[in-house]
Amino acid sequence: MSTQKPIKKAVFPVAGLGTRFLPATKAVPKEMLTVLDRPVIQYAVDEARNAGIEHFVFVTGRNKGVIEDHFDIQYELQKTLEERGKNELIEILDASQLDAGQASFTRQQSPLGLGHAVWCARDIIGDDPFALFLPDMVMQDSVGCMSRMVDLYSKTGGNIIATEEVAWEETHKYGVIEKGAEVDGGFEVTGMVEKPAPGTAPSNLFINGRYILQPEIFKILENQETGAGGEVQLTDAMISLAKQQDFFGFTFTGRTFDCGSIEGFIMANVAYSLWREDMADNLRPEIERLLREIKPGC
Ligand code: UTP
Repeated sequence: MSTQKPIKKAVFPVAGLGTRFLPATKAVPKEMLTVLDRPVIQYAVDEARNAGIEHFVFVTGRNKGVIEDHFDIQYELQKTLEERGKNELIEILDASQLDAGQASFTRQQSPLGLGHAVWCARDIIGDDPFALFLPDMVMQDSVGCMSRMVDLYSKTGGNIIATEEVAWEETHKYGVIEKGAEVDGGFEVTGMVEKPAPGTAPSNLFINGRYILQPEIFKILENQETGAGGEVQLTDAMISLAKQQDFFGFTFTGRTFDCGSIEGFIMANVAYSLWREDMADNLRPEIERLLREIKPGC
């Protein structure tokens, strides 16, 4: 095992506009929409905590103050629950909180793209390698996608990208990697391309929203021209960094739900409810009935 600087900090870009959920996201950040009883952002934070992350950096924008409140102590609520002896609820609240000094919030001000959002975290991250979570991507896995990545990183060092298989005809919608030789349970990444033209993708492995990156990415992002969609693209910056440093990938085989889209968000809610023992028995027959009875447009 080589000695790597440990991954103790994580960045959560949450400054996007969430236009696909308008008007719901006019006043409520999409990261606060819930999959069952937890906001979407909580799933990524819990995954990070389980992977050993100790400092949580949120890159926020307008209307996102409620995210800060969510991870803080809700003193009055806590007190009322204590007076009522609601210990189970207090435990749930405790589990959702971050400790004093564990969270930092910085503003992107205007949504110039994911690459720009990551760059906004540069002073808080400093010279350390860091984990990056796209919190829209809710991942269900017994070990945790980031825990698996940290494990691979402890053997390989460098930069790590989690990938997932997608149908070949869908590759043009994603950042896609070129797969090289197998290494320590992962593989070398020999190329990356953002949204390849149909029929040109180097593999059907798309970048699924979890990264471990070295701090040199910030220098590149600082001078990064805008790319696809007029936004500063993270993939473009990673392509530049890959000329100087190693990139490794691994294929995540758990379930990923893209909660940035309405369909993915609904699928996450259905799947998580069916995984919950206290809900599944009641819900399953009801979902089956809806499948039989409801036709599109009715
Ligand atoms: P999306 O591509 O989902 O964009 O961003 P969006 O604006 O949030 O949502 P839509 O497409 O308008 O519905 C992927 C991730 O990058 C963050 C988002 O918050 C989300 O977590 N992001 C994106 C930023 O923080 N800043 C940006 O400028 C763009």
